[in-house]
Amino acid sequence: MSFIEELKEKTKSISSDIAAYLPEETGFQSIILEACNYSVRNGGKRLRPMLMLCSYILCRNNGSEELSEEEKKSIAPFMAAMEMIHSSSLVHDDLPCMDNDVLRRGVPSTWAKFGEDMGTLAGDGLMLYAFETASASEADPGLKCRCIEILARKSGIFGMVGGQSVDVMLTGKQPDRDQLEFIYKEKTGALIEASIMIGAVLAGADEAVTATLEEAADCVGMAFQIQDDILDVTATEEELGKPVGSDSANGKTTWLTYYGMERSAEDVRNYTDKALKLIRSIGSYDFFERLLISLIDRKA
Ligand code: IPE
Ligand code: IPE
Ligand code: MG
Ligand code: MG
Ligand code: MG
Repeated sequence: MSFIEELKEKTKSISSDIAAYLPEETGFQSIILEACNYSVRNGGKRLRPMLMLCSYILCRNNGSEELSEEEKKSIAPFMAAMEMIHSSSLVHDDLPCMDNDVLRRGVPSTWAKFGEDMGTLAGDGLMLYAFETASASEADPGLKCRCIEILARKSGIFGMVGGQSVDVMLTGKQPDRDQLEFIYKEKTGALIEASIMIGAVLAGADEAVTATLEEAADCVGMAFQIQDDILDVTATEEELGKPVGSDSANGKTTWLTYYGMERSAEDVRNYTDKALKLIRSIGSYDFFERLLISLIDRKA
């Protein structure tokens, strides 16, 4: 099977696993449940749960990709929770008070479809339902507790929300290079760090290995956000499934503002190389490496 076919198959299987954790759309509040499910069901690369699984397989290191039923009950709720948090961040990111974008994953963004009020509540709802979902994991209680702590910290004020707040605060202004790096590490890097760290912890990795993978994930996050900035100016709306030119329309300073196209593309490669070196110092999992390499010149 080619890498592309393998990627497609894995994305499909992760999507159907996630769907199994979505709430039923019933009751007086069915509207918000619909809005939550709408934002999660609408495709996406499923990158973060996939990275969690890759890290788990890398650290478990038994030469197989197959998971036992017991292992699935341990990790699948965390994979679903991770995607819920990611989706919630996109739902809020698209709001008129933030990036004001009406298209996400090829369809109207959640607020554009359900209204700004429901969009706001759906983001809140999903973020919290993620923790309810993660709590259903049947992992060892000590490991589960550590993973929930990672998920909370990296999603919140010392992670994604912290990064988004500086991003918004400096929109239309000019963040300096350190501030820009902080924004990228937190708004995008933090959820990627959480994904890779949780996979490692659930596989029984010790603190030193988990810290090395956190550093690798930080590089993946930087590469990922710089490429996202590049795509905002080079891709088409059809390819991306979200509006192009959103950054300049919002007056955002991006990596391209400071470093230009050529150096930015080089930085994507360099951050990815550094991540690969760190990952190789832990173990070897071919699909994980190929996945990271494929992100360098992704088109969406
Ligand atoms: C978009 O993330 C937001 C960023 C952090 C750049 P993705 O590019 O992973 O979005 P989906 O999940 O594939 O739609
Ligand atoms: C990443 O930044 C946002 C999140 C952490 C949700 P962007 O604002 O560039 O993401 P896109 O381009 O809208 O997906
Ligand atoms: Mg944004
Ligand atoms: Mg945005
Ligand atoms: Mg962007």
